Amino acid sequence: MSRTWRVGVAGLGTVGAELVRFLQAQPDFAPGRDRVEVTAVSARDRARPRPCRLEGLAWFDDPVELARSPGIDLFVELIGGAEGAAKAAVLAALDAGKPVCTANKAMIAHHGQALADLAEAKDVPLLFEAAVMGGTPAVKLLREGLLGEDVRTLAGILNGTCNFILSEMERSERSFGEVLSEAQRLGYAEADPTTDVGGFDAGHKIAILAALAFGYAPNLECAEISGIERIELLDIRLARDLGYRIKLIASAQREAGGAVVRVAPALVPLAHPLAQAGGALNALFVEGARVGRLYLQGPGAGAGPTAAAVAADIADVIAGARRPVFQRPANELLPCPPADPGHRSGKVFIRLMVHDRPGVIAAVSEALAKAQVSIDSFLQRPVDETGVVPIVLTTQPASEAAVADAVGHIAELDALVQPPRVLPLARI
Ligand SMILES: NC(=O)c1ccc[n+]([C@@H]2O[C@H](COP(=O)([O-])OP(=O)(O)OC[C@H]3O[C@@H](n4cnc5c(N)ncnc54)[C@H](OP(=O)(O)O)[C@@H]3O)[C@@H](O)[C@H]2O)c1
Repeated sequence: MSRTWRVGVAGLGTVGAELVRFLQAQPDFAPGRDRVEVTAVSARDRARPRPCRLEGLAWFDDPVELARSPGIDLFVELIGGAEGAAKAAVLAALDAGKPVCTANKAMIAHHGQALADLAEAKDVPLLFEAAVMGGTPAVKLLREGLLGEDVRTLAGILNGTCNFILSEMERSERSFGEVLSEAQRLGYAEADPTTDVGGFDAGHKIAILAALAFGYAPNLECAEISGIERIELLDIRLARDLGYRIKLIASAQREAGGAVVRVAPALVPLAHPLAQAGGALNALFVEGARVGRLYLQGPGAGAGPTAAAVAADIADVIAGARRPVFQRPANELLPCPPADPGHRSGKVFIRLMVHDRPGVIAAVSEALAKAQVSIDSFLQRPVDETGVVPIVLTTQPASEAAVADAVGHIAELDALVQPPRVLPLARI
């Protein structure tokens, strides 16, 4: 028996309009004999021109009404935002027993547990492949492909805007501010870029991936987030001289009874595939006990790739896929405890801007030695016209507490002209 699935799409912006256009062009794209028909839509401005046909479709000013409408069998949320209309509409659709597909990473990261509780209580799918890495199937990889695997490490470039800015700073030797302005002009960055450049968007995505990989409920509280706003061209140049590239790395590691979930600019060895993912690309490196090292790369955003991921979720609903929303049933999801800082360790890059005086390097070495932090590599650049010299070093693996102790002592040296810049080396 074949069936027509009546789909309601809330949000007709970049992704929503492209999805409607695709479903109208290929209503029988899903394997099997079932078809898809977009019957109803919701957006704010009815008069706005859209790249899809709206004649004959029911229009809802209120997406919650659309979500509850008896005229749809499946609800697609492409409005965005953790709260407000998007969340209210998704809750309404699940409550009405309708499957939901969404690309909304902020909502899943903030409310994943509550939404999974409701979806599973109502026995309806809640799918969100497009929420992380656009059309590159990272969610499916972790939720299905690696089910049962002991995933140890995730490290990814999950924000295309930051990757574009860092790549462009290095390529064109321009400052963060100059490249950000260009990215805004080209439409790669929002007028208010805080969510992207502050690391929060990547934070939403790594919280979702960590939940899928480790069996946790998504928990943003557990994530330590810093962005790329303070990265200077000098850091990029000096890192490259030492054999690294600076990337905004979103990572999650299981450690000491918890997990370290973090977004931070970090140094990646130039030969590593994550260092090669330039421009606005997204990439994800996964390491598991049995599968070894896996690597995914692709466009993390854009109308086509993102709509393709939503369409794949719709096909899964049609195929009758019934899986827990995250890695395990919602009532078995574990809290995500932050790993004990005393047990956390890694290598770091330290950049110091110092007055060129005798004894400075000895004082820096002494502060590190006192804290039991060993130097791995060291570089000093020529003195500039103001008499200031950049010194950079990378350390051997050391506890975060020991590094903080050493950096605290270095920061007190008279010769320093600005606070030390400390960046982690990516653990990959
Ligand atoms: N863009 C991407 O490449 C991308 C990639 C991955 C994930 N995502 C996610 O996909 C979702 C949609 O992103 P987008 O880029 O398509 O956003 P967008 O272009 O800003 O579109 C948002 C749409 O939602 C509608 N809308 C806003 N508030 C509404 C309300 N209260 N009631 C009804 N409709 C409302 C807007 O209506 P009007 O058109 O009338 O203003 C617009 O059509 C977000 O969760 C985003 O994070 C996007």
